[in-house]
Amino acid sequence: MPQEQCAPGNSGNAGRPDSPGNSGNAGRPDSPGNSGNAGRPENPGKPDNPGRPGGDDAGAAECAFAPEGGRTDYDGGRDSLRAHSDDGIRIGNVAAGGGHFDDEGSTDPFFGEDGYQEHLAAEYSSITHENYLKWEFVHPEEGVYDFEAADAVVEFAQAHDMDVRGHALSWHSQNPDWLEEGDHSPEELRGILEDHVRTVVSRYAGCIQQWDVANEIFGDDADATIRDEENIWIRELGVEVLDDVFRWAHEEDPDALLFYNDYNVDGVNAKSDAYYDLVQGQLERGVPVHGFGAQTHLSMNYGFDETYQENLERFDALGLHTAVTEIDVRGDVGEDDRMNDEDRAGAAERFETVLQACLEVDNCNSFTIWGTLDAHSWVPGTFPGEGDATLHEGDYERKPTYCVIQRTLVEHQEGGDSWAEDAAFEECRGILEEAGV
Ligand code: XIL
Repeated sequence: MPQEQCAPGNSGNAGRPDSPGNSGNAGRPDSPGNSGNAGRPENPGKPDNPGRPGGDDAGAAECAFAPEGGRTDYDGGRDSLRAHSDDGIRIGNVAAGGGHFDDEGSTDPFFGEDGYQEHLAAEYSSITHENYLKWEFVHPEEGVYDFEAADAVVEFAQAHDMDVRGHALSWHSQNPDWLEEGDHSPEELRGILEDHVRTVVSRYAGCIQQWDVANEIFGDDADATIRDEENIWIRELGVEVLDDVFRWAHEEDPDALLFYNDYNVDGVNAKSDAYYDLVQGQLERGVPVHGFGAQTHLSMNYGFDETYQENLERFDALGLHTAVTEIDVRGDVGEDDRMNDEDRAGAAERFETVLQACLEVDNCNSFTIWGTLDAHSWVPGTFPGEGDATLHEGDYERKPTYCVIQRTLVEHQEGGDSWAEDAAFEECRGILEEAGV
């Protein structure tokens, strides 16, 4: 399958700096061990950002990681997903590494695998740190921040004209032991959280378009109870702390869209109702909350909720942005790590339905797939026996899931004739025909 080259003039792979303080970071804020803004370049003010409503443009920051001369245009091939994404819809994937790769002792694809960065740059117009921006990576010791990996991803995004979804500022999972097992008073915890949010958001001000400010705060019980046991912040500081987290983030980057993000909110249900009520109250109190993200981790072993679009629409009607933030569609796999043909076709249809829903909803402008190759996906390790959840397999061969996304985007932007006739889409036309999708 075609692999596009990096943008002309680009120096190539975003390499991981060899060691802290390495000259690869010249001109960047010091890392690690830096708390605060020391060394940060002054923000000269950001040019207008048309087509991206929300946030307050006044005084918005210039990304400190922008290459000289600002972001360069990047053109994926005509048959790439990013060639059919624009301000109305960004198509994203993850910078894979950390998390299950560490648990399995395998190499981080983003830093260590040939062709991985080229694939991302060729296909996608948005990127999410799969793990590198989570507390355990960025805040490994009390008072110590380590931005090495997170910076490299942001720099890569800038060099390849990609947006970044920042993930995540507060969560109950993947927190460092010093935090979870520490003996901090509520006042100390509040200070720690405020410092973290301000430090991280200000560092990437102007670079990160959407932030998952609070991740997975409601449970899976029938009442979608707030996680006031698992989530250290809510347990120790009360749910009111969320208002402050959004405010702190907004103060540090008034242009960034600030999101809630969760799974099992793929329709109108108890959990999405809980978000709706919470957000409505916050908006009434003037809290700067701007977005609702549906992770959309789907399985062919469960039904699909036909109210997916209706759910996004009701958040849109509240004045929020919406986003599909982590979509993958898994199912039971055989020896060949594939679902059966019927489930494969069903998975492709779900990707299509969700993308279509997002395209239909005005301020749903971001659609991120959680993983590139199946070999990289978190699914097989997390849901034993399931897999085949992504768009590519083997050596970046396109699956029907890839091709329905290509078709949906092309038909949306250029019309059915273009999809049906343009030679650029021949490969996918064949794949979909064979899959019966
Ligand atoms: C997953 C990562 O993909 C894994 O590498 C890691 O081991 C665990 O976390 N919801 C989220 C994501 O918000 O951060 C999770 O990512 C998947 C579920």
